[in-house]
Amino acid sequence: MSKEVTFKVFRFDPEKDKKPYFQKYAFEPRQGMTILDGLFHIQRKIDGSIAFRSSCREGVCGSCAMHIGGKYRLACETQIKGLGKNITIRPLAHVPIIKDLVVDMKPFWNKYKSVKPYLMPGDPDPASHERIQSEDERKKIDVLIDCILCGACTSSCSVTATNEDYLGPAALMKANRFIRDTRDNATDERLRLVATENGAYRCHTIFSCQYVCPKDLNPQASIQEIQELGVKRILKEKE
Ligand code: FES
Repeated sequence: MSKEVTFKVFRFDPEKDKKPYFQKYAFEPRQGMTILDGLFHIQRKIDGSIAFRSSCREGVCGSCAMHIGGKYRLACETQIKGLGKNITIRPLAHVPIIKDLVVDMKPFWNKYKSVKPYLMPGDPDPASHERIQSEDERKKIDVLIDCILCGACTSSCSVTATNEDYLGPAALMKANRFIRDTRDNATDERLRLVATENGAYRCHTIFSCQYVCPKDLNPQASIQEIQELGVKRILKEKE
């Protein structure tokens, strides 16, 4: 029996093509081959014009996120085996296509930057030591710092699909990472940025972000925390 698989790959070169199309590539995968290995195989042996993005090849950099066999995943962490004989591969959604599977992540990064994704302690750095956290304080942000900013959550989000101003799960989870950080002293400023109509309150609790996250994180829980803190902030202001 043939062990051949067929990758049906999204192709689009805005400089040449009037509209996107799918191209099929059949090959016999080696044992243990990932989707990213398969794309490299196609690029090296079958069609050198195919474009995709990757870097670390071990689930760290987040650059190989794409829509694979019906779900947003990391190509370098997804085995070909188990996805059937025909595997459809598309780029991330809600961002412009540069070529084939390569997208322009600028809209994603702009939203990320808008939540001020850095520590704002509000006082000068101590001269003689780093800012100390206890083990318990550090644990509060443990689950949030593992985000590799691959964009899978934001692409899977149907709210992002219909509202380009929505900050999206990745940016909101990053904001919560700093809200929870005991060294940060800008919670009020952060909530003004993210507990907003196009921030946390735009989420429709669909949970697709949690479903696709390759690091098993839960952006939706962060969004809910921000929603609660936002309400508390407003109630406090009215006291
Ligand atoms: S290549 Fe870095 S996460 Fe896949």
